[in-house]
Formats: sequence, C-alpha cells, structure tokens
Amino acid sequence: MTMSRIPFPFEIKDVEENLAKELMVHYTGELTGFVQVGPKKYFFPHKYKEEAEDIYNIPVKPDDVYVVTFPRSGTTWTQELVWLVKNDLDFESAKETPLPFRFPFLEISVIIHPVFLKPMIEDSIANPRKFHVADTAKPGAVKAANLKSPRFIKSHLPLSLLPPGLLDTAKVVYVARDPRDSAVSFYHLSRTYAIQGAPKDFKTYWNYFIKGLHHYSPIFEHVKEAWNMRHHPNLLFIFYEELSKDLPAVIRRVSDFLGKEITQEQVEKLADHLNFNNFKDNTSVNHVLMKNADLAVEGEAPFVRKGKVGGWRDYFDDEMVEQADRWLKENLADTDLRYPSWELTDFPTKDRKNSINVDYMRTPQGRT
Ligand code: A3P
Repeated sequence: MTMSRIPFPFEIKDVEENLAKELMVHYTGELTGFVQVGPKKYFFPHKYKEEAEDIYNIPVKPDDVYVVTFPRSGTTWTQELVWLVKNDLDFESAKETPLPFRFPFLEISVIIHPVFLKPMIEDSIANPRKFHVADTAKPGAVKAANLKSPRFIKSHLPLSLLPPGLLDTAKVVYVARDPRDSAVSFYHLSRTYAIQGAPKDFKTYWNYFIKGLHHYSPIFEHVKEAWNMRHHPNLLFIFYEELSKDLPAVIRRVSDFLGKEITQEQVEKLADHLNFNNFKDNTSVNHVLMKNADLAVEGEAPFVRKGKVGGWRDYFDDEMVEQADRWLKENLADTDLRYPSWELTDFPTKDRKNSINVDYMRTPQGRT
C-alpha cells in the first residue's frame, strides 16, 4: 500500500541576506543562510528546506518512541532514561553502543552544513570505525526508514514540524527547561562546536536568542505546542527541573507512560546511572563521537556541562534580568505554562514557593 504524500503545510522563507550575513559571522557552522518557517518563524539553517517535507512525511509506527525538546533542555538525559526503561535496563548495551546510534538525532543532517559534512563522510569511509558521527548524519527520513523497530528517535523540531500522525500513533516524551538556562547551555554548546558557532560574549547571543534568531527558536512557541498537548495520552511532558529535583519520581512516571514495570531497586540503580557525576563520565552519552571526529573546540565546555538549575544567574547583568522578565511575561501571558524553577517576584507563581507544580501531570487517565 502506498501512502499519499502530504504537502508541507508551512511557508519556508529565506532570512534576509544582510541579516543572514551578520548571523553567519557568529554562527560559523552555517555558510549559506537561514530560513524561517511558518507563522511562528521557526529558525533553521538553510538545509532544512531540503528535508522539511520528507521529515513531515516519515511514516510513524505504533512502537516508535520519540524524545522531543528545544535544544539543551535535558534531551540526552531523558533519552538514556527512556532507552534503558524500554530495554529492561540493559546497561551493558547502553555502554557498548553510543547513544546517537541507539537513539539517533533525526534532523542532525540539517544542522551540519554540507561543507563540513563532506570531510566527515570521507573520513568515515577512509577510516572505518565502528561508530562515526557521519554515519548518524544521513537525511532524517532515510535514517528513520533504516532503523529497526522499536525505533527511538530524538528530535529538536517542534511538534508541528514532525509527522502529523505522530501523537496519535507513537509515544512522545517532551522535555522543557527554564529558557534562561537553555539559552546559556545552548550558547556553550554552540561555542564548543564550530560546526554550530556562537558570538564570543553571551549577551550578544542572548539578544539574538530572544529575537528568535537562533536554531529552533522561538523557544516559547516550541514549548507551548507540547504544553498544549500535555493531556494527550501519548505525550509525557516533563521538566528538566523535575529530573533534577526528583529523578526517581520521573523514572517511575516514564516507566508508567511506556507501560513498563519497574522495581524500587531498579529505580535506584537507574537513578544512580543517570546521576550527573556518573553521566558526565559516561562516554556513551557525552558526545564521544564529536570528540572522536575532532569537532569539539579545545578549552570550551563539554557536552554534559554543569547540570544546574538556575545557573543562568551567573551570566545575566541587571539589564538582562529585566529584559528576561519582560520576555517571559510577554510570552506566557496567553498560557498557563509555568516552569517549576520560577522565582520572578511579581509573577503569579510567588505563592508556589518553588515547589514543583504537579497540576500539569494530571491526564484524563489520572496519571500523576
Ligand atoms: P548545562 O549546559 O546547563 O549543564 P541536551 O541533552 O538537551 O543538550 O541538554 C544538555 C543539558 O543537560 C546540559 O546543561 C547538560 O549538562 C545537562 N545534563 C545532561 N545530563 C545531565 C544529568 N545527568 N544531570 C543533570 N544535567 C544533565
């Protein structure tokens, strides 16, 4: 049976040439230009254009599991959690096979510019290694088609740019994080990998970030799309801050969501495996492929970096704190989305006393 192809429903516009040139001075990984997609203006490197419709048309299978996030929200942490729960805590295989091969990044080929990808492919042919980053960078739809089921797929695309039948067919875990912490973390990642690139100073980066002029932005639109679907039985919405505060509780919720039994002993073992100090030394998850390919800039931050909630405070001057407050308020005015780490004094979260808001966890099935 051949499925009819769905036309990509959004307009993809090139970012105006002068602005693109300005951005490429900082975002050294892009050499051609950028696009903005649809009314929310999701921002991507130019190559997204080539893959948008193919990704949108990826056939979804009922046993697929997706982890979807805005970058630097705890994706890797959650992927490892999900993969281990679903694979009966097979720590041996998790150690042996790097995460990008167990749980590939769907649209990484959009992010790596062809000029940088070419030598990576040549290197992987000339020096066949068991695991090479180039082998993870096939076009998203090709990669998805080649994966064995059950498929584990990581994507940073917002739900609206993923296959439209995704939620009604497969399971999706969405992770959100305080946007200020995501911004700082994304800045460091982009500095570490020249195939991405970022301005030297965080403030310049931040000013692009809040204008939606960085990969996958605008962050609030991205998160709100998932937040609005949080009661869908196939979507589990979690916060980085919850993982940080009570990892065993999140492990139990993920197990429940995936329909897997888990004992208290297993929860403890998994929580220990996922603990920041163990995680940062775990080469299967801490971007060893990028390091092997000499892609990490010497002296910049590692992929698993600080793992803190609220670390953004060390990067923001008074002007940025105020700017961030305004930005948060404007973007949250039309939604009941609130982050567990909220501390804005004049925000209606004042009386939450920093506790985790569990209201959003209730689903029609009564899952908590
Ligand atoms: P920081 O840069 O703030 O430290 P992603 O996987 O989406 O790219 O997210 C990366 C962020 O998650 C980084 O944040 C990283 O340090 C943090 N992280 C990864 N593993 C973690 C863990 N086990 N515990 C706490 N934070 C973790």
